[in-house]
Amino acid sequence: MSCNRRQVVAGLAGTLALPAIGRLSCAAVPDRPVMPVPALRDASEGRIRLRIRDGSWSFDGKRHTPTWGFSQDYLGPVLRVRRGGELAIRYENTVAEDVAVHGHGLHVIGELDGGPQRAIAPGDSWEPVLPIVQEAATVWYHSHTHMKTGPQVYKGLAGMIIIDDDNSDSLPLPRRYGVDDIPFVVQDKDFNRDGTLSYNKLGLGRFYAAHVMVNGIIRPRVKVPPGLVRLRILNGSNGRYLNFVFTDGRAFHVVAGDGGFLEEPVEVTSLFTNPGERYEVLVDFSDGLPATMRSVPAARTPDNYPEFDPIQGDQTIGYFDVDRAIAADPEARIPSRLNEIARLDPGAATVTRKFLMETGQPMTINGKAMDMDRIDERVKRGVVEIWELEGDLHNFHAHGCSFQVLSVNGREPPAHMRGPKDTVIVDERSSFIVRFDHTAPEEFPYMYHCHLLEHEDMGMMGQFVVSD
Ligand code: C2O
Ligand code: CU
Ligand code: CU
Repeated sequence: MSCNRRQVVAGLAGTLALPAIGRLSCAAVPDRPVMPVPALRDASEGRIRLRIRDGSWSFDGKRHTPTWGFSQDYLGPVLRVRRGGELAIRYENTVAEDVAVHGHGLHVIGELDGGPQRAIAPGDSWEPVLPIVQEAATVWYHSHTHMKTGPQVYKGLAGMIIIDDDNSDSLPLPRRYGVDDIPFVVQDKDFNRDGTLSYNKLGLGRFYAAHVMVNGIIRPRVKVPPGLVRLRILNGSNGRYLNFVFTDGRAFHVVAGDGGFLEEPVEVTSLFTNPGERYEVLVDFSDGLPATMRSVPAARTPDNYPEFDPIQGDQTIGYFDVDRAIAADPEARIPSRLNEIARLDPGAATVTRKFLMETGQPMTINGKAMDMDRIDERVKRGVVEIWELEGDLHNFHAHGCSFQVLSVNGREPPAHMRGPKDTVIVDERSSFIVRFDHTAPEEFPYMYHCHLLEHEDMGMMGQFVVSD
């Protein structure tokens, strides 16, 4: 690639805070390990075997770190399934601890939800067949083991699930997996001197680690074609808020969140995310310029406080490296219309529930810490309810549904949060409207909880049944 002035200027802008400007050549993208794309497993090919196993993975391209994964060294393959089809999995637990695996964002009955009641003992397996009845979305699977979700996800027990449907097929979005439709799992970790993972920074129950990574590589180089690229962003970190921006200030479009497409694309220059949330965004790289993605502190979040965030200064997420050898998809564009969303009517809600989330020892919701022997809420299937959430710097996730956000921190939800959601930030007050369409019995209830995994493990979780 030849060197032109625009590239050098863009490169400088992207590395402004770094001391290495003198070394900058026309290779504006730093020489970082390339971001890997997880293997893709299609549910139409039959049951997918996922071995929960020990692994060894290099997060920086140098040192090796003992990890866990689903049939791979770290994280799991991306599972792909169509609405109307089935996702059949065989989880085999070959590690030395119980592991429960939950499908976060899947609309399945409690028996198939994979909550902590469904722990798989070492040497055992679980073979759920998940009927997929929901619209196209990016959801995920991860450890949900009683009091061990945080450390097990941290070691690597997480993966993405892509649901397709007729609508997603018909939209002119980038759709070449790993080329211009890219799973983008963002997490943070700390390491000990010997390269092993360190998981002990639990000051005030907020886990903020010093190295941010995408798909298991710290600040990777992300190869993209000179065109429109769809990133399926999952904030898969244990406790870190991530507020994504490009250092050149470029705008991008949010097209989907948690449980499906928005009605229309929403143009943004920054995107704030909570642990557990997913957003699909479209980024235009047709100018061929490299771009640096960072997370910048957002108002009133822990990333504004040095005591929580060890990497205040350099929160680079990744370096996008436009490769003209990869053809752009000439058909891909930003659609004007994405989805029809049937809005639930707050006037039709007959039940209102309140959830007060309190930080402490233990962490509680409505004054109670998680107890597997206690059902906290009893919900009727098909009834429209409003859930009101209160707390300081938490978030709230409910199983078995997508909900519609009514308010976020006391305000109208921003446009990109008006799609189907299952996780929402709670700082002061947020609320959503929901109708549960599937049942969950006493033996296999659904969970609601803070998705800061350390809070969840420390008790900020409850159980609810859904019955006819
Ligand atoms: Cu992503 Cu109950 O979890
Ligand atoms: Cu979930
Ligand atoms: Cu919390």
